[in-house]
Amino acid sequence: MKGIILAGGHGTRLHPLTMGVSKQMLPVYDKPMIYYPLSVLMLAGITEIQIIAAPHDVPGFRRLLGDGSALGLRFSYAEQDKPRGLADAFLVGAEHIGDDPVALVLGDNLFHGPGFGEILRASARNVDGCVLFGYPVSDPERYGVGEVDEAGRLVRLEEKPAVPRSDLAVTGLYFYDNDVVDIARGLAPSERGELEITDVNQVYLERGKAEFVQLGRGFVWLDTGTHDALTAAGQYVQILSHRQGVRIGCVEEIAWRMGYIDRDSCHRLGLALSGSPYGQYLMEITAGAHRPAPVG
Ligand code: TTP
Repeated sequence: MKGIILAGGHGTRLHPLTMGVSKQMLPVYDKPMIYYPLSVLMLAGITEIQIIAAPHDVPGFRRLLGDGSALGLRFSYAEQDKPRGLADAFLVGAEHIGDDPVALVLGDNLFHGPGFGEILRASARNVDGCVLFGYPVSDPERYGVGEVDEAGRLVRLEEKPAVPRSDLAVTGLYFYDNDVVDIARGLAPSERGELEITDVNQVYLERGKAEFVQLGRGFVWLDTGTHDALTAAGQYVQILSHRQGVRIGCVEEIAWRMGYIDRDSCHRLGLALSGSPYGQYLMEITAGAHRPAPVG
């Protein structure tokens, strides 16, 4: 399975923060925002990842993340010349996807919860159709909303409904079989001029091939698209880091624990950042000072 991180967009709600820098480069406590969605794909077991960004932002992402080899991964980069919508990822990324299934994660989404790695790896296995992830929110009218029947099967999808039929928001993580490229090619832009991911998901729903995994209570899904949301996400990561001593979204640690790189390589990555607590953390965990935590 291939992975795509969609890291373009307007970022208008974060102006003026995003006038000189990409939203997905902004700090969420101790690391750039894009580390969080990247860690999701890594936990899913995906190693070939394309980062899609606005043309002027691609060099920055390349400088930050390189070709991925330091993490035992393969990164490629593609330009989205205009924010044409989330489903445009499958047109821009068609060559990268090739004949494989694909996971798309939005570059401004942060997930954290017990057993998430296991959920991801199970969902990534043999995708037949699409897998969407639902999360209960207090303001579903702001999101794509999924309605489920008594058996938990997805029966309806609505984009920002005025009167939501459920509180389950569709999160910014989607797994698709290879049909998604053709489905995206067949889409027409919506009224707001974008290729809508909800329209893609609707096709799968009509085919009876849309699985909906509900992320329950105790799980955290944050988007970071507003000033308050960005601050809250940073505080969440900070609290976990201080209280439990764990760092979430730490891609070097995940690369080691997933077996993409060995302990020594991870230690060296920490050494290169030893002037920061982030680097020191990597050096400590690879020196065995912390109990190895199960991945995910
Ligand atoms: P949004 O948060 O919906 O939009 P945005 O980032 O443009 O911000 P704003 O609403 O404040 O103007 O986008 C969700 C994610 O998808 C975000 O990480 C940006 C990314 N994105 C793209 O990369 N390309 C696109 O065409 C769109 C619409 C979004």
